[in-house]
Amino acid sequence: MSITLPVTSMQGAYEIVIASGSLSRLGHHLAGLRGCGHVLVVADDAIADTHAAVVAASLRDAGWAVSETTLQAQESLKTMSTVQSIWDDALAAGLNRDSAIIAVGGGLTGDVAGFAAATYMRGIDLIQVPTTLLAMVDASIGGKTGVNMPLPSGDQLGKNLAGAFWAPTLVWVDPNTLQTLPLRELQSGLAECVKHGVIADRELLKVMMVHAEALQDGNLEAILDLLDRSIKVKRGIVQADERETGERMLLNLGHTFGHAIEPIEELDLTHGEAVSIGMCAAAWCAVHLGINSQGGAEELVQLLASLGLPTRLPKSIDIDGLWDAMRFDKKNVESGVRLVLPTCESAVVRDDVSEQVVREAWTHVMPSPA
Ligand code: GLY
Repeated sequence: MSITLPVTSMQGAYEIVIASGSLSRLGHHLAGLRGCGHVLVVADDAIADTHAAVVAASLRDAGWAVSETTLQAQESLKTMSTVQSIWDDALAAGLNRDSAIIAVGGGLTGDVAGFAAATYMRGIDLIQVPTTLLAMVDASIGGKTGVNMPLPSGDQLGKNLAGAFWAPTLVWVDPNTLQTLPLRELQSGLAECVKHGVIADRELLKVMMVHAEALQDGNLEAILDLLDRSIKVKRGIVQADERETGERMLLNLGHTFGHAIEPIEELDLTHGEAVSIGMCAAAWCAVHLGINSQGGAEELVQLLASLGLPTRLPKSIDIDGLWDAMRFDKKNVESGVRLVLPTCESAVVRDDVSEQVVREAWTHVMPSPA
């Protein structure tokens, strides 16, 4: 089965193709789309010998000149020096303005390789080949690219503080790659699907609750339905507001809280786990402000837990440090921290949540007393 979802963008339209077992067909499809040339495959080193090797072989078979490089998918290495090394590899391989970069891996790989593509020779084609659920439903769609930056206040990294909007030429999704994805990574992607459901598809939340086990078992039918529904939510939002001046901000649900805890190494949280805890903190704020019911917040927490996601921090963390990290979030406005909160029907952006309420929300997601 193959699903093609067209996306409009200021840089031109592109397609998201979802097809099982399609990695080996990418080369021919891409040749038909824009003609052959030189590509640099930038892959997460964990899948360099598997999925990325299939992609590279498919490109060579279709007549492409293929160069390859890898990166380590670690938040601490999601920095300008990794972008610099991709630029260096691109230049050494002889890529020119007609060449393309193909990102094969998760969201981090797509963000970093995407930023390299957006800036190399003022921008070359980018093809996203997401191999994690999170990248399939979220990171590969909508053109966000970027890297982390050290915060002025210490050695903690601020998430995605430097970057660019750079729409892909094609997003190529092969759900079979999820069969080898570690369970924790799969669950991390499920958090972003919950986020999409809260914002724009309440039926998706019900489906996820019913199929919580099948989804974690990697049942292909359940996964395909999830991909279709979740990607459609993301597509609808980025088409309506590509540059995040309005509706797209809703996609940051759970992220202002989540970004404060994700870089803390001792917590060892995946992006989706951090967002899951962040959504729980945001839900508490929403109940406190009277824009969601206690029952609504509890249902959200229960769904996340049934998908194997954390709803509290694994250990207590100093709230001053968390507040400090939130103050440097790039979504903030002059008047203070900008939060997205889940309501009974969708989510809303709020700029008026006080520091005291945010601090109290953190106490509600600290580890439960023994
Ligand atoms: N991942 C959030 C966005 O694409 O806006």
